Amino acid sequence: MTEQNTALWLRKRGAPFEVGPAPYTPPAANEVVVRARAIAVNPIDGIPGFLYRVVVPWLTFPAVVGSDVAGEVVEVGPGVTRLRPGDRVLGHAVGMEKSRNRAAEGAFQHYVVLMQHMVSPIPGSMSFEQAAVLPLTLSTAATGMFQQDHLGLAMPGPDPADRPETVLVWGGSTSVGSNAIQLARNAGYRVVATASPRNFDYLRSLGAAEVVDRRSRDAVREIVDRIGDSPLAGTLAIGSGSLVPAVAIASRTNGGKRVASAQPESVTRLRGPRARRRGVRVSGIWGGTLKDNEVGPAIYVDFLPAALASGAYRSAPEATVVGTGLARIPDALRRLRDGVSARKLVVTV
Ligand SMILES: NC(=O)c1ccc[n+]([C@@H]2O[C@H](COP(=O)([O-])OP(=O)(O)OC[C@H]3O[C@@H](n4cnc5c(N)ncnc54)[C@H](OP(=O)(O)O)[C@@H]3O)[C@@H](O)[C@H]2O)c1
Repeated sequence: MTEQNTALWLRKRGAPFEVGPAPYTPPAANEVVVRARAIAVNPIDGIPGFLYRVVVPWLTFPAVVGSDVAGEVVEVGPGVTRLRPGDRVLGHAVGMEKSRNRAAEGAFQHYVVLMQHMVSPIPGSMSFEQAAVLPLTLSTAATGMFQQDHLGLAMPGPDPADRPETVLVWGGSTSVGSNAIQLARNAGYRVVATASPRNFDYLRSLGAAEVVDRRSRDAVREIVDRIGDSPLAGTLAIGSGSLVPAVAIASRTNGGKRVASAQPESVTRLRGPRARRRGVRVSGIWGGTLKDNEVGPAIYVDFLPAALASGAYRSAPEATVVGTGLARIPDALRRLRDGVSARKLVVTV
């Protein structure tokens, strides 16, 4: 197959994004190529040049970054039987991961190479724009909740029985939090979550049983009260300042006393020793690690396709389309830096 590819390049560390021709890379074993129709942006895609040395020091340039893509499968590699050309899918593009580090696998281009077990078919009724909302933040929530080195919770599945344990999601209206709430509910846990009051109804619509204002001076006490005697199975700490209250709550409730943090690794490492003294184990999430263990296929192959089709899982939060074309991605990143609330910024391609 000879397709004309175009990518949004980062020619070197700190360089501005630049649209230009790119090679079409055919899929290797257990890979597929997807023609991107919508791409979403995440904070990591817009970090300033100097931070690349800290966050992704291995990344080689010229690079194509980006994690979230939805589109049509155009070609499948050897060993791929669950996907066919023409399938409408979403996928987590892992080109920025240390073990991949390959421009062909970045989301910011027309033809993206994806690992087949990080791809999920989407229902015909779901737009590509709405589907692109999910991948990285779904992966991040799933990594924190289900990997054994983090919370090690029970996996989600169809018709889960209600469990007696609670999961706390601090930062429930973030994209990561929106997924964490839904994953926990689909595994049968009761969910307590925080957000700003304007997002309380949104969190309830995702399945949170209790919602608390994250800015309330009494948030820790309120949450401890609402968890009550129910064992706390684990906490996902999302957003700056989330670790201090998350550790305080874990130390004051019954249960596993584990907190998985989506904060930068340096912040998580700083808080770790103090948390340990309070009997709480804090671990730092890297949202791409599930591609190398049982959690990736459990989510993208076994759980998500059926859950999206049945409506048990929503693509949330709501997509806001910033524009059309790869050249609009930098605008989306600028808007993301200004802040969003219960929204995901997406570009149509
Ligand atoms: N470790 C990883 O692999 C990984 C991967 C992806 C993302 N992340 C991190 O996870 C966090 C969330 O990312 P995202 O893309 O899901 O965010 P997002 O959707 O852009 O988050 C927007 C939401 O953040 C909430 N918020 C703002 N400040 C907060 C705070 N201090 N505490 C709790 N919530 C706060 C706001 O809630 P209200 O409007 O309700 O107040 C708003 O709804 C970011 O820090 C991101 O860098 C980490």
